[in-house]
Order: sequence, then C-alpha cells, then structure tokens
Amino acid sequence: MPTKVVLGLQHGDEGKGRVVDDLVQTWADVVVRFQGGGNAGHTVYDELGNKFVTHILPIGVLNRDKFNLIAKGCVINVVDLYKEIKSLDVPVHNLLVSGLCPTIEPTHLAKDKVKYQGRLGTTGRGIGPAYSDFYARDSILFKDAINDPQGSLLKIQEKFFDYQTYLAETYIVNKNEDIHELINENFENFNKWVELYYKAAEFLKPYLLEKEDLIQDLYNENLNILLEGAQGSGLSIYSENYPDVTSSSPSVGEVLNSTGLNHTQIDEVIGVIKSYKTKVGTGEFPSQIFDINADILAEVGKEYGATTGRPRKCGWLDLDEVKDAVIQNGITHICVTKTDVMTHIGNPKYYRNKVFYDFAKINSVSTNDLSFSNLLEVIKSHTGVENISFTTGPKRGEIVWAEK
Ligand code: IMP
Repeated sequence: MPTKVVLGLQHGDEGKGRVVDDLVQTWADVVVRFQGGGNAGHTVYDELGNKFVTHILPIGVLNRDKFNLIAKGCVINVVDLYKEIKSLDVPVHNLLVSGLCPTIEPTHLAKDKVKYQGRLGTTGRGIGPAYSDFYARDSILFKDAINDPQGSLLKIQEKFFDYQTYLAETYIVNKNEDIHELINENFENFNKWVELYYKAAEFLKPYLLEKEDLIQDLYNENLNILLEGAQGSGLSIYSENYPDVTSSSPSVGEVLNSTGLNHTQIDEVIGVIKSYKTKVGTGEFPSQIFDINADILAEVGKEYGATTGRPRKCGWLDLDEVKDAVIQNGITHICVTKTDVMTHIGNPKYYRNKVFYDFAKINSVSTNDLSFSNLLEVIKSHTGVENISFTTGPKRGEIVWAEK
C-alpha cells in the first residue's frame, strides 16, 4: 500500500508525531506535511529518551534517508523555516518545499498577537492572518519570497506600514498607551525578521520544489508515502467548534487539495486519539473534567503545549467526536496513545452519546489486562473501526500495531 494518512481525531496533541515517527522507521520512504504551519509541535522521543520537536518540518527529517516534502496547503514563515532547518541540520536531499505555499509575514504575526491570541488563544504564529491573505489572494508565495526577496520585501513592507498606520490612527483617536507600545514592539519584531529574511531566502533556494507534480512521480515509482496531519479534527476550520479552531482543515480532504493526490490514491487513513482528551486555547468541551483527575492527567501526561508551553485542559475520551471524525475521514485504523497515563487513574471514564461511563481501573497496558482490553473494545464498537493499535510508553518503538 503506497499511501497512508495520519490524522488527529481530537483537538491536536494526540501524539501524531510519534505515530508518524514509528511509520518513518518501519515503512515510509517519503513524508509530506499538508496543512497548517509552525503552530504544530510534533514531539518524538528516540529509543534513548532524547526529545525532538518539529513545528513546520515533517517528522521524517529526523531520519537522514527519508525524503520530506512540505506541500502547498501549508503556510511558511521563511525565517522560522530557516531556523528550524538549521537547528535540526536538515540537508537539501532530505527536504523540498512547495513554491505555492503562502508565506507568513511580520504583519501576520503582529495581527495574530493583537487580534486573535487573546480572543481565541492562538499560538501567535500568524496562521490565521496568513491564510486570510491567501484566500483574499494577497499572499506572497514561497517561490516569490525565495526567488525575488527584494520585490517581496517591498510588498511585505507596504502591508506592514499600512497596518502600523492603522494602529497609529487608532492611537490618535483613543490615546491608549498600550497601542503606542505595540507600535514600537511591532517595529522591533519587524526589523529582527527583516534582518534574517535575505539570509533565509538565500539559504532556502535549494529547498524550493521546482516540479509541483513530483508527488505523482513518487507515487508512480511505488514509494511509500506518508501524509502527516497537524492539529486535529476538532480544530478544523470547518468544525462546529468555529471560531475556537485553527485556520486550516486537518482532514483527508485537505490531503487532496494540498498534494494533488486524488482520492483513489489514498490507501489507508490512520486516526490518532489519546486515551483521554486535551485542549489548548479558548472554549470548554463536553467531556472536560475539573476534579483531581484533570490534575493527574496533566501531571502524568505532561500536558503542556510543545509550541507555546501552555497547560492543556484535560477531559475524558469523547467517543462521539471520535466517531464523527472517523466517518468524515474514512478512518480505517485507530492508534490510541498515552494509554500508560490512564493506569494512574483510579476510576477512569469515557464519554459517549453525551453520557459519562466508567471503566474499571486499568492496571497495565496489555491486552492481558481485562480493563485495558475493554478500553480497546469500547473504541472499536463505538467507532466501527476494526484495527486498533496502541502505544505502551512514550519512546520510539513502544507501540503495538494491530496491522500495518
Ligand atoms: P492557531 O492555529 O495558532 O491560529 O490557533 C488556533 C487554535 O488552534 C488555538 O486554540 C490553538 O491552541 C490551537 N492549535 C493550533 N495548533 C495546535 C496544535 O498543534 N495542537 C493543539 N492545538 C493547536
């Protein structure tokens, strides 16, 4: 089977990174990121427990003999991409980036911070404003940012000065000193970004994908292609959780838009769920818990954002949302993560048909443990997905596959 998609079926942070990493070690030749941007934080612990986090880069870059692609549905901050490639020392033969990716500009970062970080709890990476400009057809595409940095900078500056002028006019009207400070802060951030922009553009030239239909060639060569989702279904721009969502669609539909693969070329769609649920940003959720169990899950599960460090809200596994995501994405295989965390809970529960149900105490992450087997069975019977895999611990290799 040459293509597998890995999607989060909750609110992000399901552990997709380590599932992708496992498939990179054992199966994939090519890894493709297809939506979102540096808002993601995919964490992997290798066999020795060393921690790696990627944001915009596909997890496959941790492996020198895998080829990685950032497809056109992703938004790219050229300066951040440059820094992330440098920090992980990713050689050119490991990575190409679609020239059609819209870029994230300093104005997007400034607007995200002012307008959306407080109101929606965004990651502040400029994601929403960058996608807004894309749909308004005002984006600077990655190929132009790289091939024509001078021309692009003129456009970047124009947008930035327009925004600063708007802030200055607001200041003149209401004399709010915070706005004055903000204007100065924006200038500082802008100058820091521009300082690195030319260097980044020059450095990234060899990483620019010249042939947009390369992925079809890779598919026709029968290479194993892994499509790495970011965030999760509950954060989709099309979800009923709007506006408490991100600005892209972490779905199988987006794989097609972003990569140019068609639906007949998708062979397996793996949904990743945590054995409980977490969420960052604004908005409560139906299975959220407010008692001591929330603290235990947060503490044992180390539930702090990989991108922002923010504490995550915790709750029980919501099988209603998982089932919806299974149907919408044609999920053929579920991988349950952080099952070991559940062994620390005295009376674990799950949420189904808007009601809370009890599990018996789970003593070990093994199909020999009756309660653990029951957890897998409940997921299977409610979602209708037969293949249920699970992780047994945080490190590479600690995963039991139902079928691959
Ligand atoms: P944005 O994607 O930065 O615009 O943030 C919009 C919402 O999505 C906020 O609630 C973020 O906390 C959430 N979000 C974005 N990326 C992730 C992620 O990778 N994991 C979990 N939540 C995320």
